[in-house]
Amino acid sequence: MKPVRVLTGITTSGTPHLGNYVGAIRPTVRASRLAGVESFYFLADYHALIKTGDPARVQRSTLEIAATWLACGLDPEKVTFYRQSDIPEIPELMWMLTCITGKGLLNRAHAYKAAVDKNAAAGVDADDGVTAGLFMYPVLMAADILMFNAHQVPVGRDQIQHIEMARDMASSFNHLYGEHFTLPEAAIEEHVATLPGLDGRKMSKSYDNTIPLFVPRDQLRKLIMGIVTDSRAPGEPKTTEGSALFQLYQAFASTEETQALAKAYAEGIAWGDAKQMLFERLDREIAPMREVYDQLMKDPGHIEKTLKAGAEKARAIATPFTTRLRHAVGLRPLNLGTEAKAAVKPQKSALPSFKQYREADGQFHFKVLDAKGKLLVQSLGYAQPREAAQDMARLQKEGLVALEALRGQLSLHASEDEIAAALDAWQLGQQ
Ligand code: TRP
Repeated sequence: MKPVRVLTGITTSGTPHLGNYVGAIRPTVRASRLAGVESFYFLADYHALIKTGDPARVQRSTLEIAATWLACGLDPEKVTFYRQSDIPEIPELMWMLTCITGKGLLNRAHAYKAAVDKNAAAGVDADDGVTAGLFMYPVLMAADILMFNAHQVPVGRDQIQHIEMARDMASSFNHLYGEHFTLPEAAIEEHVATLPGLDGRKMSKSYDNTIPLFVPRDQLRKLIMGIVTDSRAPGEPKTTEGSALFQLYQAFASTEETQALAKAYAEGIAWGDAKQMLFERLDREIAPMREVYDQLMKDPGHIEKTLKAGAEKARAIATPFTTRLRHAVGLRPLNLGTEAKAAVKPQKSALPSFKQYREADGQFHFKVLDAKGKLLVQSLGYAQPREAAQDMARLQKEGLVALEALRGQLSLHASEDEIAAALDAWQLGQQ
């Protein structure tokens, strides 16, 4: 079965906190280990430029976030882990998408609308302080997603609209230029808790109430001791309902541990003791990762290398795919399709070959081999040779579109990108 492609980005404008860990990092790292998924995680540093004009902060945050994901167990061998700005194909695709996206669609983006509403309320010009970067944010995000033809995009609820816009852009592009993009879907984690911050409101950078994931141990303890509680004295029963301390504990503890704390609440545990329990439970999970994190932060060169290796993996997909997209929109060599076309035709020796054959069981098949004779695609059996010939001709003529349509009848023996490249080469060779 074809693996499900999962892709998500993390904007590099802050320091990861416990809310990010519980809400995104922990579930994502776990999901990346599942069989049957192919994961792409990237540091959205171009997006960070929309939020901040502080270069040192962008660099620092990129390092911190990369180190955090690695320390939390993301395996760069298993997943493709890269930095957005290492993939120049992404801004190129952004431009292609910009040219097929209605301005009206972008006018309706929540983040842009919120900025405009705020300006209206303040009685200033509608676009006051709004950069074109903020306005274009959804197109950059669509390029991130569509470049890798992701099926699923795990995001928070606030990002659902962006995924829908990416779908819109993908369909417009496909409609105009042929089937190139998979339509992505948002994957929303229903069961992930939203953590309260130090003041009891949702933990968020904008409320300045976060507990950074990897502060030193004594600082973690100090922060936890500062979590708001009510004024009930030791010995007085406490309610778990609405207790930030309790919710934080629950996000890390087992069911039994949580029940034990609930019992202690009912029995009037002192807030100081409850905080100590929370600190110890948190530190138990975090300490081993913190050690790795501290090591990684001391060696930025190692992280740089890891990200460059990830970029290489990502570009092995992005570069040929961009060639295909350029071709689709008409950014082509000028001698292609003219008299001089022979000059750019792939060499005969670089063309894939199609072969029809009959198996011992009497069934008819065809297969596609690359220029070196490696098997790329093999059909299942057909009762009639004519049927096999028809589908083979369709694959030659329609390329990837036919590959999708005939999927049930084919077994693929190479990556889709390799097959796409071979089918493209075949078509070019026929012109
Ligand atoms: N906009 C996302 C956020 O702020 C980050 C992001 C950028 C992203 N590109 C993406 C998420 C592509 C998913 C897919 O949370």
